Amino acid sequence: MVIKKICCIGAGYVGGPTCSVIALKCPDITVTVVDKSKERIAQWNSEKLPIYEPGLDEVVRQCRGINLFFSTNIATAIKEADLIFISVNTPTKTFGNGKGRAADLKYVESAARIIADVATGHKIVVEKSTVPVRAAESIMNVLRANQRSGVSYQILSNPEFLSEGTAIDNLLNADRVLIGGEDTNEGNAAVEELCWVYEHWIPRINIITTNTWSSELSKLAANAFLAQRISSINSLSAVCEATGANVSEVAMAVGRDSRIGPKFLQASVGFGGSCFQKDILNLVYICECLNLPEVAAYWQQVIDINEYQKSRFSAKIIESLFNTVTDKQIAILGFAFKKDTGDTRESPAIHVAKTLLDEGAKLHIYDPKVVIFNISCYYFNVENCQILEDLTHPYITDEPENVKDSITIHSNAYSATSGTHAIVVCTEWDEFTALDFQKIYKNMIKPAYVFDGRMILNHEELAKIGFVVHTIGKRMSRTGINRSWGTPYRV
Ligand code: UDX
Ligand code: UDX
Ligand code: ADP
Repeated sequence: MVIKKICCIGAGYVGGPTCSVIALKCPDITVTVVDKSKERIAQWNSEKLPIYEPGLDEVVRQCRGINLFFSTNIATAIKEADLIFISVNTPTKTFGNGKGRAADLKYVESAARIIADVATGHKIVVEKSTVPVRAAESIMNVLRANQRSGVSYQILSNPEFLSEGTAIDNLLNADRVLIGGEDTNEGNAAVEELCWVYEHWIPRINIITTNTWSSELSKLAANAFLAQRISSINSLSAVCEATGANVSEVAMAVGRDSRIGPKFLQASVGFGGSCFQKDILNLVYICECLNLPEVAAYWQQVIDINEYQKSRFSAKIIESLFNTVTDKQIAILGFAFKKDTGDTRESPAIHVAKTLLDEGAKLHIYDPKVVIFNISCYYFNVENCQILEDLTHPYITDEPENVKDSITIHSNAYSATSGTHAIVVCTEWDEFTALDFQKIYKNMIKPAYVFDGRMILNHEELAKIGFVVHTIGKRMSRTGINRSWGTPYRV
């Protein structure tokens, strides 16, 4: 079989960019991305795409209407496709068995059930969403239990390793593509079909094939290793603040060891995003279910240190502001979980904002993409702003009206910081490094504080202007006083 048509169920952060790049690189394949959300599909078919991802607009513009289609007609797309990607969300379960840890497979299951209902002929079904090990088996169980005559399936695991903000480059120049399948003639044939799709632009040597379970576990393992590096450097940032070592210097020195390497050693307020925490919690849950409590405890520590880092940073803001932020005006610069995305899922900014709100602070929040994306995209109505949605979520508060009254969303950093006591940098957006801090300082209440949760600002320059500066992993003191966060650095 030669793959001529691909259907992707789920038009989110994974399905959308991945299928856009497949369409770009495989003009001989028609790719239809379907979603149950009419709004999402309407946005994919509009000039303003539902996700912000550098380079994505250009790819979609080149292919949409030619060999890339976005549709809500799920059944037709499945029927016509030779290969179906399942790219639906797999959030952490919020209730029942495995609550707060296990991946919720209800969307994967519902996608499998739709396939079982409408599929005709032979279909290769590919799980792209991050799933627990042996999820392919669950999908197969649903499909086989509902199999009609003349229909056959092969299930493959093909986890996606893209990072938000660099997704297009990650897809175009992938370190590797991983495909897991059943070790049978039919399984190997299906793996080859999918290899052929990727070989349109990825050298064969970078396409790894394994058994299904190794592929599923490798995705969880890769995310767990990456997150572990961040928690490792963040744990050392606390040691640096207590000793006078500088975490950037430590990271640089450690990363020069070719066995360790320099990437993912940037200390921060903590990692966020839809994957790291979810995948590690999932790994922990799997280990517990497999009666491997020591392994579960090992990986749980990566999450625990991340929580510690977020709490430590938030507590230090309050402590530095004379132990009270009640009615203080605080600017939060950056709300996305990292730069170059409008995504706020598990953003450390949510934790910091919640802590400050709980203490009675008035927040002035600016993010270059979260706000623009949501406000302009969703009817110019601040009520629909993602930031407010995140901070008034029942998980975060049981007083949503009070929270709304305590937050102002701004459209630029200057208005967000004007009249505030302190600036808290939560996302490493490049534009924050280019701000005119002289101008900002003039408009702030004195003493004016900066808490740099991403270590991106020029702290010496800020101190010269007059700011009281605190950052992560560096004791901002020249007095030699050995305090855990150190005395603020002032010239
Ligand atoms: C180590 C550091 O590598 C070196 O930089 C430092 O200066 C001293 O400590 P060493 O203890 O001599 O060097 O050997 P190393 O190759 O690091 O191995 C240490 C242990 O880890 C050995 O028992 C080795 O078998 C084991 N190991 C190493 C593994 O089990 N798996 C690996 O992938 C690598
Ligand atoms: C991650 C994986 O990188 C990707 O391979 C996988 O497919 C999905 O999960 P993503 O969550 O999009 O991608 O972003 P990533 O760049 O990994 O950053 C995750 C979080 O870690 C962000 O909050 C980021 O700010 C933080 N981070 C990253 C650090 O704090 N320090 C670092 O050195 C790197
Ligand atoms: P990810 O980051 O994993 O891509 P997203 O939440 O961005 O997750 O996207 C997942 C998409 O999958 C959502 O747009 C959601 O509407 C869609 N989806 C979930 N279940 C189904 C389903 N059964 N059929 C079609 N689309 C689905």
